[in-house]
Amino acid sequence: MSIQNELLSTIQDLVQPGRGILAADESHPTIAKRFKAVGVESTEDKRREYRSLLFSTPGLGEFISGVILFEETLGQNSLDNAPMAKLLESQGIVPGIKVDKGKKPLINAPGDEITYGLDGLDDRLEIYKNQGARFAKWRAVYNISDTLPSHQAVEANAEMLARYAALCQSIGIVPIVEPEVLINGNHTIERSADVNEAVIAEVFNALRRHRVQLETMILKPSMVTPGNGCAKASPEEVAEATLRVFRRVVPAAVPGINFLSGGQTPEEATLNLNAMNSLGQQPWSLSFSYGRALQEPAQKAWAGILDNGPAAQEATLKRARLNSAASCGSYKV
Ligand code: 13P
Repeated sequence: MSIQNELLSTIQDLVQPGRGILAADESHPTIAKRFKAVGVESTEDKRREYRSLLFSTPGLGEFISGVILFEETLGQNSLDNAPMAKLLESQGIVPGIKVDKGKKPLINAPGDEITYGLDGLDDRLEIYKNQGARFAKWRAVYNISDTLPSHQAVEANAEMLARYAALCQSIGIVPIVEPEVLINGNHTIERSADVNEAVIAEVFNALRRHRVQLETMILKPSMVTPGNGCAKASPEEVAEATLRVFRRVVPAAVPGINFLSGGQTPEEATLNLNAMNSLGQQPWSLSFSYGRALQEPAQKAWAGILDNGPAAQEATLKRARLNSAASCGSYKV
């Protein structure tokens, strides 16, 4: 298949009505934090057990079109001794891979951060593709304050995202472009809207500069919400603010916007997505690419005990089903 046809067929498999993406690509420190919250020590075996249970949830493929894996998981076998990518494929789910190397402080920009990982990425992408990954993810992170993020951070992170996306497309891997404006802080929803607009506008400037094909990428943004130190906005307010920003800065050529959950509770993330999809047809599909909001209930149910597998799978399927409904605007509390 030509590179272009590979990209198009992966987009067709990922962006489908009533289906979304499961982000299960937590780095070692992040998964250790999530496991600790349910009293489990993070070892290679435990990570394998948990993720294997998650991905073998019966019926998961009805609601989940793609799963983002961490590098370790892509190289692991499931509890049934099949490669994890094969397990996902058997569920009708496209395997993907997080390819960034995490964030560090941006030099000469106090409070801002920059994502690392471009060096050697071309070689790594070839390896991941041979292991079965058909899409990738790179996350840029923006802290909000009255003065952050700086122009310097907005421009530098956009440049990294665009170079990553161009590289992915050149070898037939669909890039998920993730500019995460963090929820941490006391900022208002208006401030979140202003920052998201500036950040996403600059991301698309950079994507254009690097000739990234918009039709074969997915945007993974934050929703526009007040900071987590403020009173919450209603789902209708979040939906209105988010879509106002996106209509201004996300070209209609982009097929799918798959939101991160970013510290919203599972219920909030479902309600907010549903509110957006209740506002009628948009130029792009609006779905989910949740990590915590899909996995938290499953992690609690599992609690590190293999016999709790069926309960964990039931909890996974429930959130996947409810978010699927929300991606169609048909979720009922
Ligand atoms: P959350 O939905 O937990 O924010 O995770 C999504 C993700 O992939 C962050 O990079």
